[in-house]
Amino acid sequence: MLDDMLDYLEHIRERPVWQPMPDPVRASFRAPLPIAPADLSAVHQEFLENVLPYSNGNVHPGFMGWVHGGGNGPGMLAEMLAAGLNANLAGRDHAPIEVERQIVQWMRELFGFPKTASGLFVTGTSMANLIAVLVARDTALGFDARRLGIAATPKRLTAYASMAAHGSVRQALDFCGLGSDAVRLVPVDWQQQINLAVLRHLIEFDRKAGYTPFLLVGTAGTVDTGAIDDLDGLAEIASEQRLWLHVDGAYGALGILAPEIAPRLAGLEAADSLAFDFHKWGQVPYDAGFVLVRDGELHRRSFASPAAYLEREARGLGAGSTWPCDLGPDLSRGFRALKTWFTLKVYGLQALGQTIARTCELAAYLEQRVSESEELELLAPVSLNIVCFRFRCPDADRVNARIVMDLQEAGVCAPSTTRINGELAIRAAITNHRTGSADIDALIDATLTIGRALTPPVEDRELEASYGD
Ligand SMILES: Cc1ncc(COP(=O)(O)O)c(C=O)c1O
Repeated sequence: MLDDMLDYLEHIRERPVWQPMPDPVRASFRAPLPIAPADLSAVHQEFLENVLPYSNGNVHPGFMGWVHGGGNGPGMLAEMLAAGLNANLAGRDHAPIEVERQIVQWMRELFGFPKTASGLFVTGTSMANLIAVLVARDTALGFDARRLGIAATPKRLTAYASMAAHGSVRQALDFCGLGSDAVRLVPVDWQQQINLAVLRHLIEFDRKAGYTPFLLVGTAGTVDTGAIDDLDGLAEIASEQRLWLHVDGAYGALGILAPEIAPRLAGLEAADSLAFDFHKWGQVPYDAGFVLVRDGELHRRSFASPAAYLEREARGLGAGSTWPCDLGPDLSRGFRALKTWFTLKVYGLQALGQTIARTCELAAYLEQRVSESEELELLAPVSLNIVCFRFRCPDADRVNARIVMDLQEAGVCAPSTTRINGELAIRAAITNHRTGSADIDALIDATLTIGRALTPPVEDRELEASYGD
């Protein structure tokens, strides 16, 4: 199995990025309950035939969809070690908890948070955003809200995030009982950054209308275009208005490792909380989300739920409070910290920063290739590693959606789509450390080939238009 997976990583380029699953393969996952035992080698063979070839594809250098990291070999091996230990990181006194605490300490240092800041591994930034919003809510309402529920408060809390913020921010407000309408979506400027002047007006307007603004969410690397909000500006407004500042840095926050990007994250160190993923730009295998909260005590008070069976002791296995289960909704938790610890130690932060910078250089190269072609157009400024562009043609939304599906099915490269100002864009998020300029060329060449094949020649279109007359 180890050989298979090392070969998989070594020869990933020889495979299609992604391929559709044939019906018989899909049908193999509708099998009856496995009552009787089977040979390990037989199950392994089934994995090789039915699972491995039809995976998501984000290990492949041609994968450019959504924001998916490429993982790494040492991280993969660490997952095996973690599974072997089968440690439960709810709490208690053992070395795996210390590994997680080590990462918390490193992240405090990296992001300029104080020693009293708390941190926690979670599935991903969606969960990290939810945890941060819950701490902000309880801080605004008082911790009695946990017992009494939000219906007991006359306050109508409001939060502010840009229109380009990730959907998980609205979801977090929904899940914490305040309702997704409690998020005021602030317009963005041409660079897709939150408009601070409008933000100020909205806060003032809400206060006059009897609402209680409590939370400001800045984004470091928006999902559609990679824009970084003016975090310094947001920190100033949060401090003036006494609002909790949360930064959604799902992939962009780790840009702090690249000297070229770090200055653009100025203000991040003033945040009350930060959510980000090691599994995106950090290249740690899925999943490895993380939340950092400036005031660890507020964080603890939002989640700690004493129970007789979780009693803390002065010594023995029950020692060593605060436990991770005091900082989030999960009790049983796996050892996500180990693959992160291996990745950070084996590669070192400098090399990880260089990888991040390299993905941005590749995005700049893609931007250049798009601007050099009369058949292509750029739909948004390129801020970090995301390029939104499209093939120019009539019925462009439909044709470009087809181009993306055809690219994926051809197995050449796998961008995704989004909408920029209502127009469908081919969206390439270059996140994988294996991606190189040849992959960018392949994306451009295949886009042009498919786009041309889907679009009638200009003469035919003119002819069609004249018939129309
Ligand atoms: C800006 C932003 N926030 C939140 C998320 C959600 O992160 P996750 O998928 O790890 O939950 C993403 C995912 O791409 C994102 O780009």
